[in-house]
Amino acid sequence: MMSKLRAVTQRVSINQIRKLTTKEVLEREAKYSAHNYHPLPAALTKGEGVFVWDVEGKRYYDFLSGYSANNFGHCHPKIVEALKKQAGVLHHTSRAFYSDAFGEYAKIVTKLFGYDKVLPMNTGVEADETACKLSRKWGYYKKNIPKNKAKMIFASGNFWGRSLSAISASTDPESYEGYGPYMPGFEIVPYDDLKSLETAFKDPNVCAFMVEPIQGEAGVVVPSDGYLKGVRELCTKYNVIWISDEIQTGLGRTGKRLAADYENVKPDILVLGKALGGGVYPVSACLANDDIMLVMEPGTHGSTFGGNPLGSKVAITALEVLETEGVIENSFKMGEHFRKGVEKLNSQLITKVRGRGLLNAIVINKEVKAEDVCLRLLNNGLLAKYTHGDIIRFSPPLVITQEQVEDAVNIIGKTLREM
Ligand SMILES: Cc1ncc(COP(=O)(O)O)c(C=O)c1O
Repeated sequence: MMSKLRAVTQRVSINQIRKLTTKEVLEREAKYSAHNYHPLPAALTKGEGVFVWDVEGKRYYDFLSGYSANNFGHCHPKIVEALKKQAGVLHHTSRAFYSDAFGEYAKIVTKLFGYDKVLPMNTGVEADETACKLSRKWGYYKKNIPKNKAKMIFASGNFWGRSLSAISASTDPESYEGYGPYMPGFEIVPYDDLKSLETAFKDPNVCAFMVEPIQGEAGVVVPSDGYLKGVRELCTKYNVIWISDEIQTGLGRTGKRLAADYENVKPDILVLGKALGGGVYPVSACLANDDIMLVMEPGTHGSTFGGNPLGSKVAITALEVLETEGVIENSFKMGEHFRKGVEKLNSQLITKVRGRGLLNAIVINKEVKAEDVCLRLLNNGLLAKYTHGDIIRFSPPLVITQEQVEDAVNIIGKTLREM
């Protein structure tokens, strides 16, 4: 076994002396990795700020930001430093013990967002799952829902990951088809529709409504003004927990600290992820007040890595960068600049430009495929990913400058003219 491993690693290191070509990187990944993604053909090897470079040295604007995990850009010096420093001090303990770093992080994150407690997890889907479990338990302990009768409501078009629970709430066949049977007690109402929500809430067994303030994966779908306020009012009126999934929209992405800040409303459970780990480490969080959070007793929920010292220090630094480096304001301003710039292109191929802050999308005329536009954008030095065949999301790191936005808009314009 040892000698076999040594032979493989020796061959790998010889390959690393001679840098692989893009074609070789693509072929190796296709051969040895599961085909659960359909990546665009860029073989990346380095990143800095808003840019990434491929193995042949070509530079690209990164307009996906690792699905919004890299809000603060690639290799932000403070975040990388925090990661390196804590890795050499104490990286993992598990929460079988206390750690000085986790307590420090818990205080900072709860104070910043105004909740009594945080429940730390790693990925987004785990934090959303945690919010579902919290809500069910609250439903039984506090709302007196009969045993195993709790219902959760989700909005059509939602996306919160790939676990069996998450796909049970999904309305996208690509997510759920072939993976049944599905989680019972999940119901769907149309997104941005308060009337249907109120009808659903009339069932006394409903414990929670989980919703994204802007639906990211659905194609940056922005609800009508007043929707979030309406959700807040209905949840209060019917004693239903409002879970706001800000895993993609939070931490400055939409030009405010949270997307819910556009309507000055506060959810009962706030779920954060992605950029909370600064793009360097998976850190997610469920935030809630004691009346909800304390329904979970010791031993009833957890995660080996959640809240470890390494993730805690990285998250503290990510939040510090968020709050002290003007990225939220920059996201707001650069987002407006970007949308105006794209609208001014007056391209026949664009039917809609939408978004808030630096979470934006264009809807492409059905004559061309969004995938083909993305391939050409890649050729022209800009990485962006399509969703649903006719939508392209543009979500660069929030540290992007005005000059870079203008350059990127020019690349988009040139690309659309070539189509
Ligand atoms: C709104 C939202 N929630 C949850 C998730 C799942 O996060 P993760 O992939 O880290 O599990 C995503 C991922 O894209 C998301 O956009």
